[in-house]
Amino acid sequence: MDAKKNIPAKISLASNAIEIAEGIYWVGFYDKLSGLHCNPYLIVDGDEAVVIDSGSRPDFPIIMMKILQTGIAPAAINALIYQHYDPDLCGNVANFEDIIDRKDLIIISDARNNMFIRHYSISSNLVSLDTIDHCFMFSSGRELMFFNTPYAHSAGSFVTFDTKTGVLFTSDLFGSFGATWDVFQKLSPECRKCVTYTQCPEGRTYCPLPDILRFHEEIMPSGLALKYAIEQIEKIPAAILAPQHGSVFANQDDIAFLCSMLKSLKNVGIDGVIALPQDCQTHVSNPKMPRQVI
Ligand SMILES: [Fe+2]
Ligand SMILES: [Fe+2]
Repeated sequence: MDAKKNIPAKISLASNAIEIAEGIYWVGFYDKLSGLHCNPYLIVDGDEAVVIDSGSRPDFPIIMMKILQTGIAPAAINALIYQHYDPDLCGNVANFEDIIDRKDLIIISDARNNMFIRHYSISSNLVSLDTIDHCFMFSSGRELMFFNTPYAHSAGSFVTFDTKTGVLFTSDLFGSFGATWDVFQKLSPECRKCVTYTQCPEGRTYCPLPDILRFHEEIMPSGLALKYAIEQIEKIPAAILAPQHGSVFANQDDIAFLCSMLKSLKNVGIDGVIALPQDCQTHVSNPKMPRQVI
């Protein structure tokens, strides 16, 4: 396959697959122009592999190229996990099925997602979380555990916890908009006291917090759904947060801070629409920016 031939010029080919924890690879890319890029992840365990939120159809060539860079053959992938059913994470499922070419390939998601995922023209066995006890086990005994985060942002949304590394794959939760990006993001103690996000006390030229807050205001349906989801996540001993958009967070203080900010975020989704008069609906995180329907 000549993957490079199909890659739009806007996409930088400079970065490689990046190992964010032992055997866990970020296989996305930084799309400078879109303002929203996606983070598919590959988990390698011995001679088996699993892909989480594999990405959109136009992204397929570069994602597969990054998977091949890790040395994994597509046929080693025995499961695809989709943490909800949006096209930005499920759109290339049929491409993955074609290249993996295994009759025993399974697609794992919540039953409430599967009724939509099947419309991506898939041929593999769709497995729902409740039929596998919310757990996937590699041959080695390594377990991936699944935790529902209903309506954050889909009815069947869930997060995936790798018990070996402590990586929690959070799908849209902890995601972000933003044309400024790095694989890892680290805050500082000063960030936790900052209230304006406009003049960084650390002298940084970019503050990631407004983009993270705005993303949740726009994508999550309500403050109640977001708060409930974060409360479920706080029960999980996550060492690293790996969202499907934005950056990876690997600092415990940052994780706790983000959880507390998101739990108390106001004007999330429909809350923001009904709380304010039509002509002055604005973002809490950026009062100059009108709310948008995405
Ligand atoms: Fe989504
Ligand atoms: Fe997404």
